[in-house]
Amino acid sequence: MPLFKKVIYSTDFSPLAGYALQFVKKLKNAGMESVIVVHVVNELSVTLPNGLDLRENKTTVEALESADREYLYSVFERAEAIKEKIEELGVDVVLKVITGSNTAETIVDMAEAERIDVIVIGAHGKGFLKELILGSVSLDVVRKAKCPVLLIKKTD
Ligand SMILES: Nc1ncnc2c1ncn2[C@@H]1O[C@H](COP(=O)(O)OP(=O)(O)O)[C@@H](O)[C@H]1O
Ligand SMILES: [Mg+2]
Repeated sequence: MPLFKKVIYSTDFSPLAGYALQFVKKLKNAGMESVIVVHVVNELSVTLPNGLDLRENKTTVEALESADREYLYSVFERAEAIKEKIEELGVDVVLKVITGSNTAETIVDMAEAERIDVIVIGAHGKGFLKELILGSVSLDVVRKAKCPVLLIKKTD
C-alpha cells in the first residue's frame, strides 16, 4: 500500500519552503498521487472571513484596495509556478491560496478535511529568529496535526 498518497505542501515562498519542494517531489517514490499546495494569507484577515479560497473569489479580490490586489496577484503567480513544477511529475495538483488568521490551524484543518497523509513544511520561514529550533507556524503544525509531518531543515 502506498505510504503517502495525498500530500499538503505548505509554502510562504521562503527559500526554505522552496528547498522543501524537492522533498515533495521525492514523495512520488512513496506513492504520492496528489498534492495540495497551500499558502495562507493572514494579512487580509481583518477585512475578509477565514477560509476563503481567493483564486475562486475573483469579485472579492477585485474589490480590494489596489495594493492588496496587486499583492494577491503576485502570490497567485508564484503559487501557479509551483503548481506547474509539481504537475511535471504527473500528479494531480490543487492550489489553495486561502485566508486564515491562524496559519497553522488553517493548514491542519485542511489536512483533516482532505484526509491528507503527510504535511510537508519548512522548519523556518520568513522570520529572522533562525536560532530558534522551529518557527511558530511549523511548531504549531507539528503540535496540532493528526497526520505525519515532514519537517524540512537545512543547515549551511
Ligand atoms: N502563510 C503561510 N502559508 C503556508 N505555509 C506557511 C505560511 N507561513 C509559514 N508557512 C510554512 O511554515 C514554514 C515555517 O514558517 P514559520 O513557522 O512561519 O517560520 P518563521 O517564524 O521563520 O517565519 C515555512 O517554511 C512554510 O512551509
Ligand atoms: Mg513565518
